[in-house]
Amino acid sequence: MSIDIATETFLHKELILDGDAAAALFLEARTANSWSDEEISDETLQAIYALTKMGPTAFNGQPLRIMWVRSAEARERLVEHMMDGNKAKTLTAPMVAVLSFNTEWHSLMPTTAPHMADMLMPMFEANAESRTASGNNNAHVQAGYFILAARAAGLAVGPMTGFDSAGVDAEFNAGSTHKSFMVVNLGKPNGGLDRERLQRLEFDLATVTL
Ligand SMILES: Cc1cc2nc3c(=O)[nH]c(=O)nc-3n(C[C@H](O)[C@H](O)[C@H](O)COP(=O)(O)O)c2cc1C
Repeated sequence: MSIDIATETFLHKELILDGDAAAALFLEARTANSWSDEEISDETLQAIYALTKMGPTAFNGQPLRIMWVRSAEARERLVEHMMDGNKAKTLTAPMVAVLSFNTEWHSLMPTTAPHMADMLMPMFEANAESRTASGNNNAHVQAGYFILAARAAGLAVGPMTGFDSAGVDAEFNAGSTHKSFMVVNLGKPNGGLDRERLQRLEFDLATVTL
């Protein structure tokens, strides 16, 4: 899908980001299935998290937990639980992040939301269903920030939900309150794309103004 010049001109007038930033985060960024061999430094991972954590979450609850899977040994264990079509790219990506949410995210409320903790912690403690739903939803919101943060750090990103989350939890999250929901491959772009951009829905189809 090429970017229409009229749309681009309109966007450049409306955005506070410069054109290069808008391209890197949204307009030109593509989901990646292959990467250059360049390693991803720990400093880059720190930068990705420094941006991700600043995105808003309900009650400032921040339920997202990230497991960076760098070693070949851990990579093999992870790939056992990926769908076949996701295995090769997960083995070859320079870095893989397993995104989970903490079902006990509310226990940090004295730190994350001290002004509401007295009222809300007992409520969430008593209601595992609403706590889990909120944790799951808000970690997905944070996953969106994570993808854009990685792009802002110059990485090409490959998010995947094609994996057995119960298997990943048994392998990596046993004995914790973390539940995996997305695996994200990361690396420096190599320019390789296996298909054209798929159609995005137009404004009038996807939105309504009341
Ligand atoms: C939450 C999520 C889950 C996805 N799961 C998979 C997956 O399991 N395997 C896969 O090959 N692609 C997966 N994708 C990639 C999407 O198909 C891709 O991002 C989408 O088609 C847009 O592609 P584009 O960024 O190149 O335009 C997933 C993307 C997201 C955001």
